[in-house]
Amino acid sequence: MNPPTSPAPHMVLVGLMGTGKSTVGRRIAHKLGWEFLDTDDEINRITGRTVRQIFESDGEDFFRNIEHDVLASAWQLSTPHVIAGAGGIILRADNRELLKTSKYVIWLHAPLHVLIERIGQRAAKGDGHRPLIDGNPAERLQKLYIDRESLYREVSSFEIDVEGLQVQEVIDQVLVETGLEANS
Ligand code: S3P
Repeated sequence: MNPPTSPAPHMVLVGLMGTGKSTVGRRIAHKLGWEFLDTDDEINRITGRTVRQIFESDGEDFFRNIEHDVLASAWQLSTPHVIAGAGGIILRADNRELLKTSKYVIWLHAPLHVLIERIGQRAAKGDGHRPLIDGNPAERLQKLYIDRESLYREVSSFEIDVEGLQVQEVIDQVLVETGLEANS
């Protein structure tokens, strides 16, 4: 069966933790006059629990099921949204099929050392919403990096290396690459 196409031309930002998906996404939405949805925030809103609490009490598979439902529901929204997809949104094949029906899927990436600089300290303390990199963030992020690179590439319409770029420069690139700058 073909994946459902979205009634509205949603944009999705994908990429590993720390690449700036939420910050960039929120600002692009504001600029375009679109709505913004962050899949982790939506999971938090629906369940009344944090990502970490869900991982700890019900496990990753349970979290991935909710994540899938959030993405599938967002896909059906009739007004255009900029969606910040959490890092693991590309893990399920059904999510990837859904994402591939949009022409605005942007992969934000950066070299590993940049991501570690950005999020490593907090994660090393077992803090925040990223239980997958607790303990040894550098080693764990490296594994995620290797395992997921091809999946991000598979779903994305184009990619941006955010290393050394200001948030505004990333936004400008997104708007140029998507051809949406005229609307902003
Ligand atoms: C995850 C990324 C996190 C969060 C959870 C799992 C992942 O979101 O959903 O910790 O598997 O990469 P961010 O990408 O917003 O950090």
